[in-house]
Amino acid sequence: MKMIIKACIIILLLIGLCFLGYYKYQEYQYRQSPKYKLLQKGYTEKQVQIILDKGTEKQIETIISLDYNPQIPQIMNHKDYKSDYFKRYLNYQGPKNIDDIILLVNQDIDQTSIPYSDDLLNIVKTPYFIKEKLSRYLDYKNKYPDLSYQEIIKRVNCGIDAKFYTNVKTADTNKGNLILINKYYQLDASYTPNDLQAIDDDNHYLTKEAALHFSQMINEASKVGYYYKVNSAYRSYSAQEEIYQEYKNNYGDTYAENYAAHPGHSEHQSGLAIDMVAQDPKGRDFEQTEEYTWLQEHAHEYGFIMRYTKENQYITGYNYESWHYRYVGVEAAKQIKQEGLSFEEYYHYYIEKGQ
Ligand code: DAL
Ligand code: ZN
Repeated sequence: MKMIIKACIIILLLIGLCFLGYYKYQEYQYRQSPKYKLLQKGYTEKQVQIILDKGTEKQIETIISLDYNPQIPQIMNHKDYKSDYFKRYLNYQGPKNIDDIILLVNQDIDQTSIPYSDDLLNIVKTPYFIKEKLSRYLDYKNKYPDLSYQEIIKRVNCGIDAKFYTNVKTADTNKGNLILINKYYQLDASYTPNDLQAIDDDNHYLTKEAALHFSQMINEASKVGYYYKVNSAYRSYSAQEEIYQEYKNNYGDTYAENYAAHPGHSEHQSGLAIDMVAQDPKGRDFEQTEEYTWLQEHAHEYGFIMRYTKENQYITGYNYESWHYRYVGVEAAKQIKQEGLSFEEYYHYYIEKGQ
C-alpha cells in the first residue's frame, strides 16, 4: 500500500515537474519572441502589433537592434508607407514630421545629393513640382527669396530662369497639336505642316484639324451674331523673318521683341495659331468687343486657347495679344482653362514630364 502511495507521489511530482518545465520552456520561448523584445524596448502593445503586422522578419530584427523610436510604428502605419523603403525612411535625416518623411522618401528625394531644408520640403509640396527641377527651384529661391513657392515652380517649369532665346531646343513636332514653340523652342526653317487647309478666301491656312475646329467655332459664333476677321494664320519661316525685320525697322528692337517671334520661334509656323479680331469692331479695340468676350468664354470648347495673356507676359516673353489664339485640341484647351495655366506650364508639367 505504502509503495502505491509512494509511486503516486513520485508520479505527481513528475507531472508537476513536467508542468513546471513546460511553463519554463514557454516562458523561455516568449522571452525569445519579437513581441517580448519589442515590449522590453518600450513599445506599447499597440505599437508592437503594428510592427509585427507591417514588418518583415528582417525589419523587425532591425527595430529590435535599435533604440526605442516611437516614429517607427507611426511610419509603418502611414497610409503611403512602402515596405521596400523601410530603411530609407529610418535613415533620412531631415523632416521631423512623419507625413513629410514619407512624402520625400516616396519621391526619392532622399536619393539626391541635395540636403534637406524647409525650402526643399515646401517646394516638393507645391503643386506642379517636377522632381528633376529641384535644384533649379532651390537656386531660384536663393536668388529671389521673396517669391512664393508657387511662383518659383511656375517660372522654373517654364524655363524662364534662363534668358529668352538661350538654351534653345528644337520643338518636338511629334507632340502634334501640343507642340510647344516659344522663345526656347524653335522649328527648323524648313518645317511646314503637311496638311494645311485654307480657312477663308484670303490665303489664310491652318492644319486640317485646327481648320475644322476653327470653322465650327466661327460658325457657332455667327449664330449669335458675332463675326471675325482673320489677320494671320500659318506663316512660313521666311514670312516670320520679314515680319520680325519689319517690326524692328518700323518700331524698334523692344517692340519687335515684344510682339514678333524670331524666325523659327513663331507658332504661326506650325499652322496652329491664328490672329483674329472682330469683323466690325465699330471703332473699338478688339478687347472691348463682344466678339472678344465670346471667344474668351467659348474658344476652349473648340480647342483654342488665348496664348499671350496679360498675366503671363513675363512667361511668354510677349506683350498681351488679345487676338492670338492657338489650337491645342479640345481636351487640353479645357484643362488649361480649368486650371488657369499658361500653355508653357501645361506643356512642361503634363506633356513633357510624361515622357
Ligand atoms: N506675335 C507672335 C508672338 C508671333 O510672332 O508669333
Ligand atoms: Zn499671332
